[in-house]
Amino acid sequence: MSDLGTLIALAGIALILIALGWWLLIESEGVYLGRRVVIWLYDLYAGRYDDIKHFRQDYDHLFLAQPIMERLAPNRAPLVLDVATGTARLPLALLRHEHFIGRIYAADLSMGMLYQASRKLERYQREYQESAPVLLLCADAGALPFSNGAFDLVTCLEALEFTPSPAQSLRECVRVLRPGGLLLITNRLTGRWMPGKTWTQADLTLLLMSIGIEQVRFEPWQVDYIRVWGVKAA
Ligand SMILES: C[S@@+](CC[C@H](N)C(=O)[O-])C[C@H]1O[C@@H](n2cnc3c(N)ncnc32)[C@H](O)[C@@H]1O
Repeated sequence: MSDLGTLIALAGIALILIALGWWLLIESEGVYLGRRVVIWLYDLYAGRYDDIKHFRQDYDHLFLAQPIMERLAPNRAPLVLDVATGTARLPLALLRHEHFIGRIYAADLSMGMLYQASRKLERYQREYQESAPVLLLCADAGALPFSNGAFDLVTCLEALEFTPSPAQSLRECVRVLRPGGLLLITNRLTGRWMPGKTWTQADLTLLLMSIGIEQVRFEPWQVDYIRVWGVKAA
């Protein structure tokens, strides 16, 4: 092969390796490299996570806290579990809701994300001059350290696809939900980049029904995610 041919071949290989690295580490956030890599990446980016995501309090009220409180009514004091809570987006949205007087367990495997969550909860306590009834804990979505039927509401937002087995994590969410309890999860819409980690609506509906979830509803949310609601059969 001529020098030019060798150079083109090497450039081609380098491009393929860069594309593969980008897909493995950035696009799919390390999920095909194992749980440790996912958590390492979240630990690394935890301090910048909220800036990257551009969360808006008014949207989180409108699309998360308000519809949750409407569905839970008249129960204003639910026991909540937020699985893969990240920087406590869902707990803070609920705490800021005027009718919420419940308690929240917020679990994640990344200590970096939990640290950011604790800082935000401290700021909340200073701002509102009241204690935040939120317990942060380090726990794996695939093996939740709670007994069956413990919670009135279980949420898992933008996270199932980053766990080693999304179906197992979903089964765990449902296991710890009480009969009649409310489930809110998300399904990623740009799933073609994450084969085996997301579901079609039909497949997710079937899976949820097979593990005892009824009244499955899909509601639009963001470009990348759809909200999925369900109620655990009594
Ligand atoms: C995209 S963030 C979503 C965080 C939060 N739910 C939100 O809506 O902002 C994904 C979160 O899942 C967590 N995570 C990934 N794998 C996990 C696992 N196996 N168990 C628990 N948390 C996990 C990460 O640490 C990260 O905080």
